[in-house]
Amino acid sequence: MEFQRQYEEARALAEARLGTFFSGGGLEEAMRYSLLAGGKRIRPILTMKFCEAAGGTMEDALDFGCGVEMLHTYSLIHDDLPCMDDDDLRRGRPTNHKVFGECVATLAGDALQAAAFRTVLSAGEARRSPIRALAAGILAEAAGESGMCGGQYLDTLGDGQPHTLEELKDINGQKTGALLRAACQMGVAAAMSGVEVDASWDAWMDAAGEYAENLGLAFQIRDDILDATSTAQELGKPIGSDAANQKTTYVTLLGVTACEEKVRFYTERAKSALSQTGWAGNPDFLLELADRLAVRDH
Ligand code: IPE
Ligand code: IPE
Ligand code: MG
Ligand code: MG
Ligand code: MG
Repeated sequence: MEFQRQYEEARALAEARLGTFFSGGGLEEAMRYSLLAGGKRIRPILTMKFCEAAGGTMEDALDFGCGVEMLHTYSLIHDDLPCMDDDDLRRGRPTNHKVFGECVATLAGDALQAAAFRTVLSAGEARRSPIRALAAGILAEAAGESGMCGGQYLDTLGDGQPHTLEELKDINGQKTGALLRAACQMGVAAAMSGVEVDASWDAWMDAAGEYAENLGLAFQIRDDILDATSTAQELGKPIGSDAANQKTTYVTLLGVTACEEKVRFYTERAKSALSQTGWAGNPDFLLELADRLAVRDH
């Protein structure tokens, strides 16, 4: 119950702040359409909760979290394009290109990426300038050729070709894990302005990175399980997309039962990265979040 209350509180904070961006028409309407379509808001919630664990407040991390969510939304708009996964439904609505056309959807994604960095780089007061730069650097690393884009490249390149488990782990780590890692580490960074920076910060950054890497692997395997076993109504996105694109996933290589075992394995690793570290705040929410995501149904 306490977990649900905290989740809803963090989600409402992110939702309200996200609603203040992009009030115009034209391209902004297309950006808003996908950004405000709901979604679990896992990434801004992670950013805010890691900030709390490192001794800050959720508000300290809110705009960093919104930046990550904008970048994530851009990745979803592009992921759904006909040149990528060619999907028609996202967050319970027709995909961006189905409503606005491929050209506008491409530009809405591009503009959301730029807005993500603008949001991170204008978060909070001027004295937070070095922290903003640190956070923007973390996000840039996660978004680019060795992070989400690099992972998406390898993922789409593989359509119709077999992958090994090792290759899939790398692809998933990049396309999904990298941004989750950024979300968590930007949360730790956001707490830096309020308190003395000492050796704990390195330990918190490392623990946030290890939690996120393992959470990311569990998260993508769960996503692949749901693609094979759920319904479009429950997921808010099409099922069978991976099979239609002839993607090798953990599910095609191992089957659902062994995948569920893998999800549990990576979830335990994520949790132990947090438990082995002494935090300024309380990491209990993050521990329970990992457990909940392992059995999520959408
Ligand atoms: C979907 O991410 C894309 C993956 C990385 C698997 P989410 O499952 O977080 O999607 P939303 O934000 O809730 O719509
Ligand atoms: C995409 O993975 C991850 C991204 C970086 C967007 P998927 O292609 O499996 O994500 P869904 O299932 O469309 O949300
Ligand atoms: Mg994809
Ligand atoms: Mg997809
Ligand atoms: Mg998927």
